[in-house]
Amino acid sequence: MLERRWIIGFTCLILVGLLHFVCFDLIMLYDVQKSTTAAPIELLWWSHHFSFVYDEVRQCGAFECRVTNKRQRLASARAVLFYGTALKKGDFPLPRSPQHLWALLHGESPRIVTYAPSDDFLQHFNFTSTFSRYSDLPLTTQWLPSAHDLISMDYTMSFDFKSSNLNVASPSVVFLSSDCDTMSGREHYMKELMQHINVDSFGSCLHNKNLPASLQKDYMDNLYSPKLLRFLSRYKFMIAIENAVCEDYITEKFWRPLVVGVIPIYFGSPSIKDWQPQKKSAIFVNDFPNAAALGKYLMELSENKTEYDSFRGHKLNRSHPIQNEKLLHNLMTYRYHTGDLTLEGSLFHRFECAVCKNATYRGPIRRANARHNNCPLVPIYAPLESKKEPHSLVRWRSAMKVGQCQARILKTFFRSNKPYNEADFEAELNRRMDDNRCSTDPKLH
Ligand SMILES: *[C@@H]1O[C@H](CO)[C@@H](O)[C@H](O)[C@H]1NC(C)=O
Ligand SMILES: *[C@@H]1O[C@H](CO)[C@@H](O)[C@H](O)[C@H]1NC(C)=O
Ligand SMILES: *[C@@H]1O[C@H](CO)[C@@H](O)[C@H](O)[C@H]1NC(C)=O
Ligand SMILES: *[C@@H]1O[C@H](CO)[C@@H](O)[C@H](O)[C@H]1NC(C)=O
Repeated sequence: MLERRWIIGFTCLILVGLLHFVCFDLIMLYDVQKSTTAAPIELLWWSHHFSFVYDEVRQCGAFECRVTNKRQRLASARAVLFYGTALKKGDFPLPRSPQHLWALLHGESPRIVTYAPSDDFLQHFNFTSTFSRYSDLPLTTQWLPSAHDLISMDYTMSFDFKSSNLNVASPSVVFLSSDCDTMSGREHYMKELMQHINVDSFGSCLHNKNLPASLQKDYMDNLYSPKLLRFLSRYKFMIAIENAVCEDYITEKFWRPLVVGVIPIYFGSPSIKDWQPQKKSAIFVNDFPNAAALGKYLMELSENKTEYDSFRGHKLNRSHPIQNEKLLHNLMTYRYHTGDLTLEGSLFHRFECAVCKNATYRGPIRRANARHNNCPLVPIYAPLESKKEPHSLVRWRSAMKVGQCQARILKTFFRSNKPYNEADFEAELNRRMDDNRCSTDPKLH
């Protein structure tokens, strides 16, 4: 009963939110129509992330935009769109006309595009959609399928049921990861933790158990398959260490255990506590001096039903499941999450429409900054008992340094505003590496 009331209340709030957006659109549209001709604003995808050519008119609420990836439309484009993981260092549309807004869609941690977090790079964009809460279309909660999943009891097992699971040794921890070389030092930390407590590791990293055959094939592609969720829900704890530490870079690693009533053991975004459904919904690696201390705590917690369930208020407190105002607000207003399977709900569609609406906005000059992709330029890793840094860190640190160097080179090319290509870029990079100008620049922030 209480749950139904909660859902109805939630639906009403969403409707109010939608009404707000529609009114806002109409007011903006009125402003625009006073001053523009009938031809729709053009958005050009510069990145080659789709192999097919397209050119179509998009209806975005009350706005209309022509979206294409035909590069010959550059002259008439109002905004040029870039997809982070498909960026090419030698392929930007220069010279850039003053009317060209640049818009960046990028949801990845810096491991793939190491220059993306640099201010030297970001400052050339007028609109961003990243995991950061400060970006124009934030994707912070994109990996949470829906607010309903967070409070639903569908996969939630009782403490007693979890304790009676004889296949799992105390304290009942599951680890599922197949990326074994991370900036956050995940595998190094886990190696230490697994010397102190039992952990069932099903992925290829520190693998010690096999997934049921029915799950082996697609557990990486289908992160929220019912079968997988049911499987994970038998555990008390799940390791949730992101592959890199960036503010608001929060993936399914955090949300999935919360969805299935399992306590996440989290390391990643430094301000993660801003996003938990209640004051205490997860265990944070940073709250413990080392893996031994964390292991000891997990052993105690796994035996104490009252204390264990106090982490699961979002499941067990039917009248007040989500007590975090910031998260509630985000869930009511966010415009993209992976659980939305409609065409209009796709990430590209949402991004195009957000840019479409914003391209008509006239106001002070807008440019992105480092907060829009808030990753420390020197990687941060989970604290090791030895107080040593993980051996792979040397390589990640130098990758990030080269990234900064690349960002500075891009800035130079963008400023000179003349066409250049990949070979020009590589030549400049080699010149700077040879002069030691890449690694000695002390501008680390
Ligand atoms: C279990 O945790 C509660 C607090 O939630 C505490 O009051 C109680 O003493 C604990 N029980 C044991 C046996 O440690
Ligand atoms: C649910 O949360 C509210 C608000 O914090 C609290 O007053 C109430 O006691 C909780 N109910 C249960 C059953 O824990
Ligand atoms: C467009 O961007 C400006 C400046 O960031 C912002 O104030 C405005 O709300 C945005 N409009 C839309 C529709 O996103
Ligand atoms: C877009 O960003 C560029 C580069 O930072 C800047 O020169 C330009 O003025 C910005 N345009 C608008 C409309 O804000």
